[in-house]
Amino acid sequence: METLRKVSELRLYTGRWRAKGLSIGLVPTMGAIHDGHLSLVKYAQARCDKVIVTMFVNSKQFGKGEDIDTYPADEMRDTELLAETGADLLFAPSQSEVYPPDFDTCVTVSDLSAGLCGAYRPGHFEGVATVVTKLLLQSMPDIAVFGEKDYQQLLVIKRLVRDLDIGVQIVGAPTIREADGLAVSSRNVYLTLDERVIAPALYETLCGLAKTVADGGAECAVAC
Ligand code: PAF
Repeated sequence: METLRKVSELRLYTGRWRAKGLSIGLVPTMGAIHDGHLSLVKYAQARCDKVIVTMFVNSKQFGKGEDIDTYPADEMRDTELLAETGADLLFAPSQSEVYPPDFDTCVTVSDLSAGLCGAYRPGHFEGVATVVTKLLLQSMPDIAVFGEKDYQQLLVIKRLVRDLDIGVQIVGAPTIREADGLAVSSRNVYLTLDERVIAPALYETLCGLAKTVADGGAECAVAC
């Protein structure tokens, strides 16, 4: 698996693949690769001839006081894991390759970004939408795979692709969970031992609510 840093190099590879009629799947990540990411790579592999993983800690999606400076990063380990899983190409550009000093464009998906997580993280989804738009246009894949774990993000990306007529299919892949139900996430390393013990309650509660709704708990469905 080659690691590329420049958009121009990426375009050379994707151009050659397309000329041979090969389909391309894209898996965007911020590194700190775990089983969830690897499942996205496998999901793309099952549907495409070639799989590109991008690794870029996107400064624009971190708000004030968020963890950009401490976000877990280990490129060598990540590269090994991705290569073992059989990814074809790693695109790991620098900040200046993605955002040159006079970068001046933002992609905003207004309504879908406003509530839920967006209400607590001003600017977060604008940062995600901007970088994902760039990554899609840089690689022009046939499909791009995102985890259903970040469900609002998945909806924002689907909407921007539809609204901007970008010729790629956005695919959501199922959440990978620890044995006790906690969703696998790069940020789980921040949990203290006590927090880690109670964290699976989130999944238990969601499953309980889903069952209540499925069993006809209409009042609960409205309240949720
Ligand atoms: O889900 C993520 O890891 C990031 O939000 C993404 C989609 C790679 C954009 O930086």
